[in-house]
Amino acid sequence: MNSSDDFDHSATNLPADSWCLMRCPDLAGETLERQSAPNYILRQRTIPMTAASAPSSLMAQGFSRLVTVEDPFHADELMSERSHKLCAELESGNLVVLPRSPIVIPDEHRSLLLAWKQASSPYHKNIAYRPLEDRLTGLEASEQGEAGQLRRILRAYSQRAAEFLSAFLPPYAGNWKLDYVSYRPIEEKARPARLHARNDLVHFDSFPTRPTNGARILRFFTNINPQDSRVWVTSQTFEALGPRFAAAAVAGASSPFGAFARGLRHIARVLHLPGSFRPPYDELMHCCHNLMKEDESFQKNTPKQRWEFVPNSSWIAFTDCVSHAVLSGQFALEQTFLIPQNALVSPHRSPLAILEKFAGRPLTF
Ligand code: SIN
Ligand code: FE
Repeated sequence: MNSSDDFDHSATNLPADSWCLMRCPDLAGETLERQSAPNYILRQRTIPMTAASAPSSLMAQGFSRLVTVEDPFHADELMSERSHKLCAELESGNLVVLPRSPIVIPDEHRSLLLAWKQASSPYHKNIAYRPLEDRLTGLEASEQGEAGQLRRILRAYSQRAAEFLSAFLPPYAGNWKLDYVSYRPIEEKARPARLHARNDLVHFDSFPTRPTNGARILRFFTNINPQDSRVWVTSQTFEALGPRFAAAAVAGASSPFGAFARGLRHIARVLHLPGSFRPPYDELMHCCHNLMKEDESFQKNTPKQRWEFVPNSSWIAFTDCVSHAVLSGQFALEQTFLIPQNALVSPHRSPLAILEKFAGRPLTF
């Protein structure tokens, strides 16, 4: 396990104006240029930085780092010790990258998945598979003919991802709720979406219709694209940014618009609409998610680090505390696990603990 621990601590004290000019030491003189929010994201220069070789000293404390694991079951350390360390890394907002995915995708599954683009328009939603119900959602009418085959493929991915994580991260095994699998066949670059659904804007994940009541969102991604990397940017973690956006959410709630929004939620509850009975934790997380995407100045000025997840790699992140955006990439598989508080190795670092400290009261039912 290579943990990129050597932070550039001096960067934590940069004047606000310099935040977007963080230098990448391995690229001698290459800088991330300050641009307006949409341009920054669409026009950011390509930097030859891969997940496996990302320079380790770029980011200051409070930013997500990559922990690269070349050999997930290498017997160099006690497995239990190593898995505990990896869980702690993930829970503090770092990403675990497996440059060679441990999930074998059979050739016939891969061929069908890669051919899927023909039926998909950019407005198409990702395809979701619900393992507990063995059910697919998000298919267009023209795709129904292949639904059975796709369901089998996503079921197999779900089973393999769960088997792998059970062995790789035993503290979570048996404690999680297996959430949805998604298949992401659409090119993410310039993908059209409404503001709150845009994934090219930096955000923490919060599901609008599936409250977690404090459980954490752990995602296991695999890039099945045969030639192109999937490109993300990340910024500061929830520990650094959460209280700031939670404070903005609370301030917004007492505004006239906040009263209006509360009125709408009340109507939604009366109508029993999905997501309308969110616990306070999920309400606050969802407000943070929306406020981040609405905040042009934040999107423009927050320092970002760019990561390329190479073809056939997998990566794991708690996306409720890794602030992330996807810039480009097509054809990825992903399995979400909901990890309850009692399975965490560092529950005090969870978004729930951070928000309860901020609010001074329990936020779950
Ligand atoms: C996201 O969760 O925001 C998107 C990640 C991805 O599709 O790579
Ligand atoms: Fe996300």
